[in-house]
Amino acid sequence: MDLFEYQARDIFEKHGVPVLGGVIATTPEEARNGAAELLGRGGSPVVVVKAQVKTGGRGKAGGVKLARSADEAFERAEEILGLDIKGHVVRTVMIAEGAAIAQEFYFSLLLDRANRTYLAMCSVEGGMEIEQLAVERPEALAKVAVDPRVGIDAAKAAEIVAAAGFEVEIGAKVAPVLVKLWDVYKGEDATLVEVNPLVLTEGGDIVALDGKVTLDENAEFRHADHAELEDAAAADPLEAKAKAAGLNYVKLDGSVGIIGNGAGLVMSTLDVVAYAGESHGGVKPANFLDIGGGASAEIMAAGLDVILGDAQVKSVFVNVFGGITACDAVANGIVKALEILGDAATKPLVVRLDGNNVVEGRRILTEAAHPLVTLVDTMDGAADKAAELANA
Ligand SMILES: Nc1ncnc2c1ncn2[C@@H]1O[C@H](COP(=O)(O)OP(=O)(O)OP(=O)(O)O)[C@@H](O)[C@H]1O
Ligand SMILES: [Mg+2]
Repeated sequence: MDLFEYQARDIFEKHGVPVLGGVIATTPEEARNGAAELLGRGGSPVVVVKAQVKTGGRGKAGGVKLARSADEAFERAEEILGLDIKGHVVRTVMIAEGAAIAQEFYFSLLLDRANRTYLAMCSVEGGMEIEQLAVERPEALAKVAVDPRVGIDAAKAAEIVAAAGFEVEIGAKVAPVLVKLWDVYKGEDATLVEVNPLVLTEGGDIVALDGKVTLDENAEFRHADHAELEDAAAADPLEAKAKAAGLNYVKLDGSVGIIGNGAGLVMSTLDVVAYAGESHGGVKPANFLDIGGGASAEIMAAGLDVILGDAQVKSVFVNVFGGITACDAVANGIVKALEILGDAATKPLVVRLDGNNVVEGRRILTEAAHPLVTLVDTMDGAADKAAELANA
């Protein structure tokens, strides 16, 4: 899960990373009040109005603007709210205390899958052109592997600032901040912590002026507090419903609903349906849904319920390979799921069963003879049938 800058700011603060005051606003009015409050603290004579969107390059797109008074903050917020930045419409701005910047640096910490470790990247040349810097002068961006078992301790932080080429005095101020950013990374189970810019102020302080944090959703069970960071407004309602039911579901654009067991089988089902769809008016898969190992009636019903709730869905392809959960159990699951759903089940279902106990599974479905269910023995044949029904 990617966080908004203001959420990253809050998490930084919680872990002792130096940040400036910031308040969020969804209307120009709120922006004026927020700015008045920050200016009233007397720390800085300016505030910065910043678009809160989960994409980079906000500054260049006109999403980061200075204001010298509360009224100016109102005007800047009026300009920024509603702005479209790379397809992300700005609904919220953060009013941040202004920093008197002497120098801008770059720091990030991320998961380096290829090398099975973490990687710290750091540069004395931070700011808005870091991607360009990485391409044109890669030597100016230090890359230092971070052992997950050790993390960034004082020694590792010293190694990073030395590799980045900081002057000794500034490096000595930056290093402890890197240790705190490691606390954020580890403590929050992040897969990315990026600060661009990390600045040296004219007063000689190091401050994180911008933050990008990605949290590892696989570690959600350890962080009850992360649930409230989710952007409910942006979440697809069907995906939210599936998540609440514990299902692994991703909404797609097509009209053939897909249910399968095992991520690999579901992925190949998407391919097969897309291929079959080419001869049926170009129909495409409507979703990814992996019901996992235990295809109980409840899980099958929950899965069907989500898929049938998608107005774009015209037919459903249930593709199950019986393993530990045998085909007869799955077949019973489908029959019971249709009972549970009753009149809510309205679209044709094409079922393909194979694997453990397939003969019994097919017998159960044949005997149930549900008017919506068509049994097809092969995966290609079933995909073709489901695509045909979606195009009918
Ligand atoms: N609180 C602040 N006070 C003074 N200047 C700021 C402040 N916040 C940002 N700036 C200036 O604006 C520039 C852009 O801000 P920021 O890094 O937050 O946005 P961005 O880099 O354009 O967005 P992104 O990181 O999403 O690409 C910074 O490099 C900095 O020079
Ligand atoms: Mg930035």
